[in-house]
Amino acid sequence: MSYESILVEDRNGVIIVTVNRPQALNALNNAVFLDLIKLMDEDLPTRKGLKGVVITGAGQKAFVAGADIKEFLDLPESSGGEHLAKRGHDTFFKIENFHKPVVAAVNGFALGGGCELAMACHMRVAGEKARFGQPEVNLGLIPGYGGTQRLTQLIGKGRAMEYTLTGDMISASKALEIGLANHVVEPGTEVDKAIEIIEKIASKAPLAIAKSIEAINAAIDQSKDGYQVELKGFRDLTLSKDFQEGASAFIEKRTANFKGV
Ligand code: CAA
Repeated sequence: MSYESILVEDRNGVIIVTVNRPQALNALNNAVFLDLIKLMDEDLPTRKGLKGVVITGAGQKAFVAGADIKEFLDLPESSGGEHLAKRGHDTFFKIENFHKPVVAAVNGFALGGGCELAMACHMRVAGEKARFGQPEVNLGLIPGYGGTQRLTQLIGKGRAMEYTLTGDMISASKALEIGLANHVVEPGTEVDKAIEIIEKIASKAPLAIAKSIEAINAAIDQSKDGYQVELKGFRDLTLSKDFQEGASAFIEKRTANFKGV
């Protein structure tokens, strides 16, 4: 599949997606969104042996420095940028609800839409020099790609208020302390660490991974009863062949051979 603004590489079943606009600090423009939608809708579903996805940014300076501010000018007077926010929401929901782990390898600035993209991923590995933030108030905006919701979910209301209202950047060590980053690693090793996490997950039962993602996401989805999602997921898994295999392997003291059924 061909893309204009992202690079897609298969490393032994782990798909490395690199937002590739280093001249604009990988800002999310229309082309990047079209590529991400194609990736999620058309490319990933056809991949065999897929273990998970790593999202990172090209170059050493930025993961993604936000939505492309230059595309925010000349918007229709009737609806402004509503369609842009809607597209951001829809695209990031596809990432958040993907049935395989998606890990952000945050190699530099993750600001505005970049912080929002990282937060839509299931986990974040940050390089020591990474800087997160929602600086939209400096532009007369609020986060528009889910940042008000996901930042609050991840770090709590008081902290989300402070960082969003001040626009202050969040260092990698602070991000780790407040739960925004899962790991902080040496610069240049973010992708390796993300792959290591995905490889570990790939040794587990695939259906259990997918149901875990679904149930954890339901905990923060006000349209769903998370306990019911958990109950149904648990029920379905107890009826799966992989559960039989996992339980038998435990009793027989051997490694389980999961098939994803
Ligand atoms: N959109 C478009 N271009 C951007 C960009 C963005 N978000 N961020 C950086 N760039 C471009 C700059 O315009 C510059 O291009 P030129 O060389 O053509 O001028 C290039 O990337 C390098 O950037 P700087 O010269 O600014 O680099 P710096 O090291 O001085 O500063 C920075 C780095 C602090 C990250 C700074 O670039 C910056 O503040 N960027 C904007 C961050 C921001 O406000 N993000 C939020 C965007 S709005 C949003 O995302 C809304 C939403 O929720 C949907």
